[in-house]
Amino acid sequence: MKTRPKLLTLSLLLCGLSCTLAHAATVSDSTTALIERGKYIAIAADCNACHRPANDNGLPFAGGVAIVSPMGNIIAGNITPSKEFGIGNYTEQQFADAVRRGVLPDGANLYPAMPYTSYHSMTDADVHALYIYLMQSVKPADFAPAAQTDLSFPFNVRQIMWGWNLLYRSSARFENQADLSGQLNRGKYLVEVLAHCSTCHTPRNVMMAEKGSLDLSGSPLGGWYAPNITPDESGIADWSQTDIVTYLKTGHLADKAQAAGPMAEAVENSFRFMTDDDLNAMAAWIKQVPAVHTKTRTLAAQPHPVADDIDSIITGQNAQGVLADSSTTNGAELYENACASCHGHNGQGTRDNFYPSLTQNRAVSAPGAENLVMSITEGIHRKSSDSDVSMPAFNQQLNNAQIASVSNYVRHHFAGMNEDITPAEVQNLRNGGSTPFIMRYLHELMALGALIAIAFLFGMWKWWKS
Ligand code: HEC
Ligand code: HEC
Ligand code: HEC
Repeated sequence: MKTRPKLLTLSLLLCGLSCTLAHAATVSDSTTALIERGKYIAIAADCNACHRPANDNGLPFAGGVAIVSPMGNIIAGNITPSKEFGIGNYTEQQFADAVRRGVLPDGANLYPAMPYTSYHSMTDADVHALYIYLMQSVKPADFAPAAQTDLSFPFNVRQIMWGWNLLYRSSARFENQADLSGQLNRGKYLVEVLAHCSTCHTPRNVMMAEKGSLDLSGSPLGGWYAPNITPDESGIADWSQTDIVTYLKTGHLADKAQAAGPMAEAVENSFRFMTDDDLNAMAAWIKQVPAVHTKTRTLAAQPHPVADDIDSIITGQNAQGVLADSSTTNGAELYENACASCHGHNGQGTRDNFYPSLTQNRAVSAPGAENLVMSITEGIHRKSSDSDVSMPAFNQQLNNAQIASVSNYVRHHFAGMNEDITPAEVQNLRNGGSTPFIMRYLHELMALGALIAIAFLFGMWKWWKS
């Protein structure tokens, strides 16, 4: 008669064990799912783009790449779970504060080169998943980035961000709008918060904050130009939703546009890994943001016909060899030697569009020559979901005058554009573009600040004496 309680105990024990196992299984299933979700958020938010290691073989998120700004270099730090060098000791709240408010655990302010101005509306659920992913699945890098942030005075005083944050930092969280479809709400969240398109595509005011009323209408970006992507004729009104998805996923759209420079990086590290549903949601949102009209192209009164005699110039000679000892600034000659082998004598490109046409190319026909000049200078290297593309950089072979003349040739002949770029302007783009207002007038601003302070003290003194 004693067997029964024994059996009962045994079955209870077994049940307890299996229940515990089942529970453990659900916990680890849900942690795995959370880690997967956090990983996807890190990709959509492109955290590794800035927090990547300075050398190509380093550990992801180990930091060290310099964000070059006119005020100096800012280094995005190590955000691996290393306790000594990374964020291993951050609580989830401290992590949320760094990502959404740009505030470090010790209270110091981050510079807005870290896009907390976009991430501020990240949902609690996404911050949680991102935290779990970084803490539990990313390999700790137990070393500090070699380079240090190095800004000129007064930008090296982090306290100045306090005033800037007061003016420009929002603390509103993202909320779905009842009057928008599920797809548009998702698209808005991705475009505005995670993928932070506005940090590159929105023009900035004198204080370098985004001009909200001109959202996504185009902005210079370290020599490059992130074009107007609002649905205006000066933007991308003629792109369908599918066009935008194709461009984000592959980095090129036949007979329209290619992604070079910073956009190529965003495609390579982030957009090409996003789901079709998410890409469509972003494209649907972009298609209906307020249209902003900006400068359109100025066409030459008489577009230059493509010269028929080009073929006779230097065809057949070794292009690199000719370039090496050529000091010519004849645009046609330079084009023939440096470009025609891939883009065709008449800029027609190849039939499969692997070498794109320059006659139907937004970098060529844009109001400014920035992206053409920068593509020639830096070349294009991009892995996308369908291919790896590469155009050589010509910064070693061509000087400013040569880059200016080949650019002007391409713009005249293939797009009928009549605004020439000068060698000095090419040099300026190669240096990272024009200095923002705040830097150019910094000394005047500081002098003005000092005058106001003196006037104030003088007023106080008069008041005190009276
Ligand atoms: C456009 C570049 C950029 C992107 C994208 C970016 N960061 Fe940063 N982040 C920075 C820079 C630059 C700093 C340092 C700013 C400073 O020193 O004031 C920084 C600082 C931080 C810090 C504080 C610790 C440290 O390294 O200084 C954390 C935590 C952080 N980022 C997390 C993230 C996460 C998580 C993501 C993705 C959701 C992300 N960042 C995306 C540029 C970026
Ligand atoms: C890191 C900066 C950066 C980010 C982030 C970024 N872009 Fe871009 N984008 C650029 C630059 C620069 C170009 C120009 C590339 C070129 O012509 O080679 C560009 C080009 C484009 C174009 C082609 C426009 C044209 O006229 O040729 C589209 C469309 C576009 N971006 C959409 C987006 C969307 C949507 C997002 C967010 C999901 C986004 N971009 C995020 C920098 C950025
Ligand atoms: C070895 C082949 C090769 C040579 C030489 C070459 N290109 Fe390219 N070019 C490419 C490839 C590949 C792309 C990118 C295609 C893509 O993104 O799908 C490209 C893209 C471009 C773009 C589009 C850039 C953008 O931002 O959208 C322009 C403009 C351009 N090339 C102009 C030139 C000019 C001008 C020269 C000569 C100075 C030149 N290329 C030489 C292969 C070449």
